[in-house]
Amino acid sequence: MADTFTALVAEQPDGRTVVKSTSLEETALPPGEVIIDVAYSSLNYKDGLALTGRGKVIRKWPMIPGIDLAGRVRSSSSPRFRPGDAVLVTGYGLGVSWWGGFSQRARVKESMVLAIPEGLDARSAMAIGTAGFTAALCVLALQDHGTLRTDRELVVTGAAGGVGSIAVALLAALGKKVVASTGRTSEAAYLKTLGAADIIGRDVLSQKGPPLASERWGGGVDTVGGQTLVTLCSQTAYRGAVAACGLAGSSDFPGTVFPFILRNVALLGCDSDMTPMEERTRAWKLLVQHLGKLHLDAVTEEVPMSRLVEFAPRIVDGQVRGRVVVNVNA
Ligand SMILES: NC(=O)c1ccc[n+]([C@@H]2O[C@H](COP(=O)([O-])OP(=O)(O)OC[C@H]3O[C@@H](n4cnc5c(N)ncnc54)[C@H](OP(=O)(O)O)[C@@H]3O)[C@@H](O)[C@H]2O)c1
Repeated sequence: MADTFTALVAEQPDGRTVVKSTSLEETALPPGEVIIDVAYSSLNYKDGLALTGRGKVIRKWPMIPGIDLAGRVRSSSSPRFRPGDAVLVTGYGLGVSWWGGFSQRARVKESMVLAIPEGLDARSAMAIGTAGFTAALCVLALQDHGTLRTDRELVVTGAAGGVGSIAVALLAALGKKVVASTGRTSEAAYLKTLGAADIIGRDVLSQKGPPLASERWGGGVDTVGGQTLVTLCSQTAYRGAVAACGLAGSSDFPGTVFPFILRNVALLGCDSDMTPMEERTRAWKLLVQHLGKLHLDAVTEEVPMSRLVEFAPRIVDGQVRGRVVVNVNA
């Protein structure tokens, strides 16, 4: 009998995205040096857009979505990896232009593969996933800029989401006073468990204000974009910085240059997809050092791949708290 595995395959027959659980043979996978038995993937905002077809995320059809995966090497023609090695892949077009993680098996280029850092397993690595990795990149950007030396409060927007939850936990673990901005004040207790010192409503920052408002924050991590990012920059203190990674609210930037040219505020862009390996290793190290198991357990829920398509709209509608790991064998 042929050796088959199950994957979610997205197609666009008539402009509509259709995702179906499909049985595939290994020969169908793209060429690459490393074949991985996937154990877990995760659901990120971008995966939600891909699975629901609500955003133009997928660049090649048919596609196996899933921008993250973790598991064990099944076979490898690369001397860097041996069968049984615990590995993860995030980004590099995974689930967008390269068949991704919502699959029991994947074949990737060796340059895409990272050993799962010591202290994590496939499930906890995916509880972090692209969202947590991006949060770490934002924190590193603030650290490199010198912003973490501030005594002022730092704000995290979209705080109850995946990137937001892990950014709150990381900044708090680094000893910073973190204010969590959320549209779900019902999640205040959860955000305080992660280390938030205070909670503010989403509407506080989504209001249009003066181009330069009173200095309120040392800086922050923004996952929302639009007016929220503009207001955050306008309220950031002299020489502070905002690390921007998301567009959960809007991809617009309806602001002025005043915070940048009069207050020396820095807007630090963060992309997780094409991050060089050296920076990836640095981000995962920060995550392993500062995210406790308790925090990871608090932010994570598990969904079987067999239920993922029906679950996916929830992340685009802002209804997911923290992170969702996807068990691809259930
Ligand atoms: N640059 C990169 O490489 C990169 C990597 C990963 C993620 N991202 C982006 O970062 C963002 C967050 O990703 P994620 O995986 O953390 O998603 P997520 O879990 O869905 O979190 C997004 C959060 O944003 C808030 N939100 C949702 N809709 C909103 C709206 N209309 N206005 C204001 N706030 C809203 C919600 O938080 P509250 O309920 O707490 O308000 C929601 O939980 C997404 O835009 C994603 O595309 C970028």
